[in-house]
Amino acid sequence: MFKFSLRPISRAASSVPTNSLKIGSFGAMYSTKHSHNHKFIVTEVVGKVGLVKLNRPKALNALCNQLFVELNESLLALDNDPKIGAVVLTGSERAFAAGADIVEMKDSEFVKNYTSGFLSHWVHQFEKMRKPVIAAVNGFALGGGCELAMMCDIIYAGEKAVFGQPEIVIGTIPGAGGTQRLTKAVGKSKAMEMILTGSINMTAQEAYQFGLVSSVHPVDKVVDVAMETAKTISNRSMLSVQMAKESINNSFEVPLASGLKMERTMFHSTFATKDQKEGMNAFAEKRKPAYKNE
Ligand code: CAA
Repeated sequence: MFKFSLRPISRAASSVPTNSLKIGSFGAMYSTKHSHNHKFIVTEVVGKVGLVKLNRPKALNALCNQLFVELNESLLALDNDPKIGAVVLTGSERAFAAGADIVEMKDSEFVKNYTSGFLSHWVHQFEKMRKPVIAAVNGFALGGGCELAMMCDIIYAGEKAVFGQPEIVIGTIPGAGGTQRLTKAVGKSKAMEMILTGSINMTAQEAYQFGLVSSVHPVDKVVDVAMETAKTISNRSMLSVQMAKESINNSFEVPLASGLKMERTMFHSTFATKDQKEGMNAFAEKRKPAYKNE
C-alpha cells in the first residue's frame, strides 16, 4: 500500500469546497480540493505528484475554453512548484475527453479563429512544461481529447478506452496536433484511416499495438499505474528528468545529427550537477541516491 501525504497545490490552498476522489486501488478516499474558481478540473497533490482530473461529466469532458484556461493554470502552478516532480492527467471512467466543445465553436468564423489563434492556447502550456505529464486515459479520447493525450509525455490506457479523430464527421479536421502527433505515433496508414474516416474505433489494445500508448490496464487501475510511474520519476533527479524529456522531444524537431549533438551536450551538462555526483557515488557506495535537484 502506498503512503502519500496529501497537500493542495499553492493556488488551491484556500478555503474552497472539498470533494472526494477515489484513486483506484490505493484503496482510500483522499480529500481533494477544488482549485480557485476551477469549475471543470480538480487538482490535488499526492506526495511529489500533481494529479489533475478533468471534471465536466455532463459533456464528457468536452474541452471548452474555460476548461483549458483552468487546465493551463493548474499545469503552470504544478510546473512552478519545486516540490512536484511529475503530473498525471486523467478524466472520468466514461471519458478522458470527447474533443473540443462543438457547441461552443460551431458558430465561430475563420477570421475570429485566425486572429485569435484559436486552439493555440491549448498547446502553449504543454510545450512549456518542464515536468513530465502522464495521461491516464479511460473511456473516450476523441478529437481534441486524443490530441490532449498525445500532448502528454506518456499515455496509459484503461482497457475500455477508445481513441479516435472524428473531426471529419463534423466537417472539419484535427486542429490541435492530430495530423502530426498521431501520424508520428501510429504511422501514416493508420493515421490516414482514423482521420479520413473519423471512425471512433481504436481500442486500447489496438492503441497499444500501434504504439500510441505504453500499456493497457483495468479501468480502475490505470490512474494507479500512472501515479506509480509519476512517483518513480519524481524520485529521480529532476534535472536529469527534464534534460531527458527535452532531448526526447527534440528528436521530433530536428535531424538525427542535431538531436545527437544536443543529447551529448545535455549528457555533458549533467556532470555539472550535484545530482550526477550523488547518483554515481550512491551506486559506487551501494546505497540509494538522495537527490536535491541541484
Ligand atoms: N462537444 C460538446 N459536447 C459534447 C461533445 C463535444 N465534443 N461530446 C459529447 N458532448 C455532449 C453531448 O452533446 C451530450 O450533451 P447533452 O446530454 O447535453 O445532449 C453529452 O456530452 C453526452 O454525449 P452523448 O449523449 O452524445 O453520449 P453518447 O454516449 O451517445 O456518445 C460520443 C458519446 C460518441 C462521444 C458522442 O458524444 C460524440 O460523438 N461526441 C463528439 C465527438 C467529436 O466529434 N469530437 C471531436 C470534436 S472536434 C475537435 O476536437 C477539434 C480538434 O481537433 C480540437
